[in-house]
Amino acid sequence: MKVMISLLALTVSAGLAKADPVKDIDARAAATVSAMTPDERLQVLHGPMALPIFGSKVPEGAVPGAGFIPGVKRLGVPNMTESDASLGVAWVGGLRGDGATALPSGMALGATWNPDILRAGGATIGAEARAKGFNILLAGGSNLIREPRGGRTFEYLSEDPLLTGILVGASIDGIQSNHIVSTIKHFALNGQESGRKFDDVKISDAAARESDLLAFEIGIETGHPGSVMCSYNLVNGVKACGNDYLLNKVLKQDWGYKGWVMSDWGALDGVANALNGLDQESGDQLDRQLYFGKPLAELAAKDPKVAARVSDMATRIVRSLYAVGADANPAAKTPIDLKANAQAAERAEKEGIVLLRNVDKALPLAATAKKIVVIGGYADTGVLSGAGSSQVQGEGGPALLLSNGGAGPFAALMGEAYQRSIPLDAIRAQAKGAKVVYRNGRYITDAVEAAKTADVVIIFATQWSTEGLDLPDLSLPRGQDALIDAVASANPKTIVVLESGSPVVMPWLAKTAAVVEAWYPGIRGGQAIASVLFGETTPSGRLPVTFPASVDQLPRPKVDGSDLEPDFGGETGGTVVPVNYDIEGSDVGYRWFARTHATPLFPFGFGLSYTEFKREGLKIEVKGGVVTARASLQNIGSRPGADVAQVYLTNMAGKPTERLVGFAKVDLAPGETKEVTMTLDPRLLANWSGKDWAVSGGLYSFALGANAAELQAPVSVKIAPRHLKP
Ligand code: BGC
Repeated sequence: MKVMISLLALTVSAGLAKADPVKDIDARAAATVSAMTPDERLQVLHGPMALPIFGSKVPEGAVPGAGFIPGVKRLGVPNMTESDASLGVAWVGGLRGDGATALPSGMALGATWNPDILRAGGATIGAEARAKGFNILLAGGSNLIREPRGGRTFEYLSEDPLLTGILVGASIDGIQSNHIVSTIKHFALNGQESGRKFDDVKISDAAARESDLLAFEIGIETGHPGSVMCSYNLVNGVKACGNDYLLNKVLKQDWGYKGWVMSDWGALDGVANALNGLDQESGDQLDRQLYFGKPLAELAAKDPKVAARVSDMATRIVRSLYAVGADANPAAKTPIDLKANAQAAERAEKEGIVLLRNVDKALPLAATAKKIVVIGGYADTGVLSGAGSSQVQGEGGPALLLSNGGAGPFAALMGEAYQRSIPLDAIRAQAKGAKVVYRNGRYITDAVEAAKTADVVIIFATQWSTEGLDLPDLSLPRGQDALIDAVASANPKTIVVLESGSPVVMPWLAKTAAVVEAWYPGIRGGQAIASVLFGETTPSGRLPVTFPASVDQLPRPKVDGSDLEPDFGGETGGTVVPVNYDIEGSDVGYRWFARTHATPLFPFGFGLSYTEFKREGLKIEVKGGVVTARASLQNIGSRPGADVAQVYLTNMAGKPTERLVGFAKVDLAPGETKEVTMTLDPRLLANWSGKDWAVSGGLYSFALGANAAELQAPVSVKIAPRHLKP
């Protein structure tokens, strides 16, 4: 404090004008790039994957990871060292030989509805990236869950643009607090994996702006990511990484984005991508040709417009490195306290676990249970993780790696990997005085016999998913539905713990006493699950995604392109797969369910607690164009817990709708009441007109909800018509 005051005094007494940091980095970046030779400018525009695969070597100066782009040392531009991803520093199949903190999956993070958790998680994984020598974390997965069977659902946060945007912004902010760049990805409308490089998403401008693009827009405004990663798919017939509309018009012009656009790995389709807004070619050995090398140099030598574009591309990159301070604070290898960092993962999972069912207060488990039988899910070994580029493992790698067969370079990355946190041990540590027995659940008869002897059965069920492949349906694989059904029929005191990447259907639901959705729970997952089961933690997660009752309720009962030969790389042999997002438009997830009047298995926003809450007194105030929602939340039970205020727009000037427009998570002691205030983003009260956000004006109705399907009586206010800049 003292130092700050004297520094301030010094500044004032020296009469220094306050520098504008934004203008300052713009000017510095422009000066640096103009001092570069043409070759140096090109050098920062592309780089290879930094892994010893596909016949490549790890380049000098690189850290083994997703990518490497040489900087310009003489001008102080650091090398760009890139690692995946949103859930921690990626394991890359063990090729680097070190472990990292694995946060729970994106779905678990989304289920926290708590930006503080995302910021803390981001700060932790960003610090680890930096301490491993990376200055770019390929994080910020923000695609909306349009397809719950999507192989990467586990990496993403939610089906809602506001929830996703706020949470991803907090995560990016946390990551970048370490003087490293975070991306936001995959821009845009990359909602499925089947034929991922050849999916041609058809969607209207308005529907895109009001859904997936809005999630990115809010995420960029709140998190200020240094880079945006464009996606593999096509949007309205044009590759996303060469899409003038997405990159030049929406991102750079309308949103005024000043950072750089990097390609997804192997996503380029030509040098023209540069003119359409792409700034950097990533993983360049994966493209058919190195487009941002010689071909771009030749074009730039001939055409001053292309040369100016090359300078702009380089300036955007250098600017973002300056904006986070990656030049002044170079990332370098330092020791990491994985044990301390694991606490961020445990806290996130404790808040992300969703209690879906709890008949007669079966949970938390009473100390009276003398015999507990734990079944299945490799609960004696570890916790499940999602596969693909985002996968993280702790020191020593996975506790168990189940092969899915296959040959070829991606087979090793496609294993079902269990992280080193053992639920059975954590249950034993909590269940003092009880006998805890484990059965692997391979044989139903054996599991049923054991279940019959138990006071309580805890059955773990897993649904593995991976980047590169979608799920064919929402069932639990390998006969687990039949196993749960048989066990719950034998012992009604059956508690199901789900470790799933995405929603599942539950044909056995009515037979169970309780269901806990633990998602892929991360490196302290076992401890977090046990803490919830035994009541040390009161569950406060809320679903960030609708759990359908069946796939028939979805806009696409079958995933487009799912009949193609599954291919991790997304190659279809050139066959374009049309994917029609105009079916649901911006009515993604719960909005689709509201529109079709379908009853899901569990609605968006749903989650039980061990205590009870009273939510009331919704007031909507309009002052000078700012709309504020206020509500009161009270803990009327006997345990401390956290509730989430959820405010939905239900009618816009006579048109029924359903949109989450405000949310806030609050901790409440027993008996405590808190007043929450939410300022509503005006874009959520508007529709995209074709050139701006148009609030049509009239009577608007809002409702406080326990979840998207359980809304209180609406409150209506008059809102004046207005137009807002994009
Ligand atoms: C994924 C990206 C990832 C990149 C680098 C791609 O296949 O889609 O999310 O960042 O690989 O590993």
